[in-house]
Amino acid sequence: MTIDIEAARAVLAANDRGGYTVPTARLYPFQWNWDSAFVAMGWASFDAARAWREVERLLEGQWQDGRIPHIVFHAPADTYFPGPDVWGTHHTPPTSGIVQPPVLATAVRAVFAADPDRARADARAAAIVPALLRSHRWWHAARDPQATGLVAILHPWESGMDNSPAWDTALARVPTTTATKIVRRDTGHVDPAMRPRAEDYQRFIHLVDTYRGAGWEAARMYAAAPFRVADVATNAILLRAERDLLSLAERFAAAACGAIGARIARMEQALAALWSDARGLFLSRDLVAGAALDVATSAGFLPVWAGVGDASRLAATLGRWLTRARFAVPSTDPAEPGFEPLRYWRGPVWAVVNWMLAEGFATAGEAASAHRIRNDTRALIGGAGFAEYFDPLTGEGAGGGSFSWTAAIGLLLSDAAVAD
Ligand code: DGY
Repeated sequence: MTIDIEAARAVLAANDRGGYTVPTARLYPFQWNWDSAFVAMGWASFDAARAWREVERLLEGQWQDGRIPHIVFHAPADTYFPGPDVWGTHHTPPTSGIVQPPVLATAVRAVFAADPDRARADARAAAIVPALLRSHRWWHAARDPQATGLVAILHPWESGMDNSPAWDTALARVPTTTATKIVRRDTGHVDPAMRPRAEDYQRFIHLVDTYRGAGWEAARMYAAAPFRVADVATNAILLRAERDLLSLAERFAAAACGAIGARIARMEQALAALWSDARGLFLSRDLVAGAALDVATSAGFLPVWAGVGDASRLAATLGRWLTRARFAVPSTDPAEPGFEPLRYWRGPVWAVVNWMLAEGFATAGEAASAHRIRNDTRALIGGAGFAEYFDPLTGEGAGGGSFSWTAAIGLLLSDAAVAD
């Protein structure tokens, strides 16, 4: 199955709002952090100058303390909740106050490699690398104050995998009461059966209220957090990003290399310790309860993207999942009681996760798994278009349509870009 490259480029062009790309019209009308990182790599496949702008516009939202927020509200829109008034961060431009999986350094390294204009690549990367260094330092200082080697997320939205069943027990501890009146917009754009439930939103917004009450100050947020999780996906993505940042720093910030190398060594050890032999998979850790979150989700494969773990064991686990699903990789093991094939992060296939996993398996020498994942992703996009996510049982597209990061992955997986 081939992907229509012109159609993928047209999705990015249609979602371009002037140097930044919205994930999709109406449902997500602003700039999202990890979406933009993948989207920048997509742009880089045909327009490197535009790829650099994507990164630079995201960095307009970076805070003094180094954090890169999960949403930058460049221009007003009334089709999304919670908007800037709920966040109340008083940043210019307006932003949320939480973060998202730090794919950005990985994207910058890829854009740097893809840019045919080497003088431009050097100039743009040299200007961006200091911002990446500040962001990674923030992650470790703010979210791993005891230097354990694992950073914490304080909100399910920070994982990007908002309603994953992995969060169910940790999230159940968060009250459903909110100071903010909840006026959901998402369920007006997408079938509510494909979105998080009302109760999830009550807890999500309770957390936003809590952190707004802490003045969005990193240490106060950490101390006040009723939800504090060492997410295996976020940590794998950060470790991979540290490796990519190290490569950039060797050229642009030599003095920073020692500190990055030390962080990598610490993270490698700590991430490896999240392995569950019983599951044949990595598990996130609930830092409030001090226990593993024993639910098998696609996040548990992501250490392979960071070069950690036994890739052949992971490939065997994936093989078991695929006896129950037609398309790789369901976001939740279809054998889990919490599996729902159409509800957002509780079962559907996401192209960005597939792409990271295929890259990881390929690098680790598990060519068959990489091939299967890439082929399934091409088949899903080829069959259902650039949907937000896909039903792993039927291949049906779900969630929002004309989705930027799915188009970006389509470009990265287009036959010309990846021969396997
Ligand atoms: C949403 O609104 O669904 C987002 O995932 C939160 O960032």
